[in-house]
Amino acid sequence: MLPPHNLDLSHLPQSIFLIGPMGSGKTSIGRILANLINYEFYDTDRVIEERTGADIPWIFDVEGESGFRQREIKIVDELTQLPNIVLATGGGAVLQLENRKKLHQRGFVVYLRVAIEEQLKRMERDRSRPLLQVPDRFAVLTQLAAGRDPLYQETAHMMYEAEDLPVRQSASALLELLITQVTP
Ligand code: S3P
Repeated sequence: MLPPHNLDLSHLPQSIFLIGPMGSGKTSIGRILANLINYEFYDTDRVIEERTGADIPWIFDVEGESGFRQREIKIVDELTQLPNIVLATGGGAVLQLENRKKLHQRGFVVYLRVAIEEQLKRMERDRSRPLLQVPDRFAVLTQLAAGRDPLYQETAHMMYEAEDLPVRQSASALLELLITQVTP
C-alpha cells in the first residue's frame, strides 16, 4: 500500500501507540496505518492470546480480570520496546500507572476517541469482550469512559476523532496529522 500524496515520512515517530476504548478502531486503523508507513503492527490482546494459547474470554474466566491485567503489563512492557511499530493496546491498558508511563515515554501515543453510540454500533454482534457481556452495555461503556477518559488524556500526545470516516480514510487522515503535527 502506498502512503497518500507522497507524504514525507522521515519525521514520523519511531513507534506509534494507539490507546482508547473498545471499538474506537485501534486495531483496524492501526493495521492500515502500519501498512502505509511500512511499520510492523502489533495488538496487545492478540499477543496475549498467542502467548497464553487461550482467548481473552477464557483468560478472564479462569484468571479473572486481574490475571489478564498482569499478562497485559508484561506484554505492554515488551512491545513498547520495539522500534518502528504501530501498537494497538487494549482499552483497559491505561488503568495501570506503569503501562501509562511506558506508553508515554517510549513512543508517540494517539488517543482514538469515539462516541458511546458508535462503540455500541460497532460492537453490536461482538461476543469476545468479557466486560460487555452484560444486559446494559450503554451503562457499562458510559461508566468505563468516565473513569478512563482522564487516563487516556494523560497518556496521549495527540487525540484523534475518527468516527465519521471509513477506516481507510481514517488511517490516512491520522497519518497526515502525524506528519504535520509531530515536530522532528
Ligand atoms: C478491555 C478491552 C479489550 C480487551 C479486554 C479488556 C477493556 O481490548 O483488552 O476485553 O478493559 O476495555 P479492545 O479495546 O481492543 O477491545
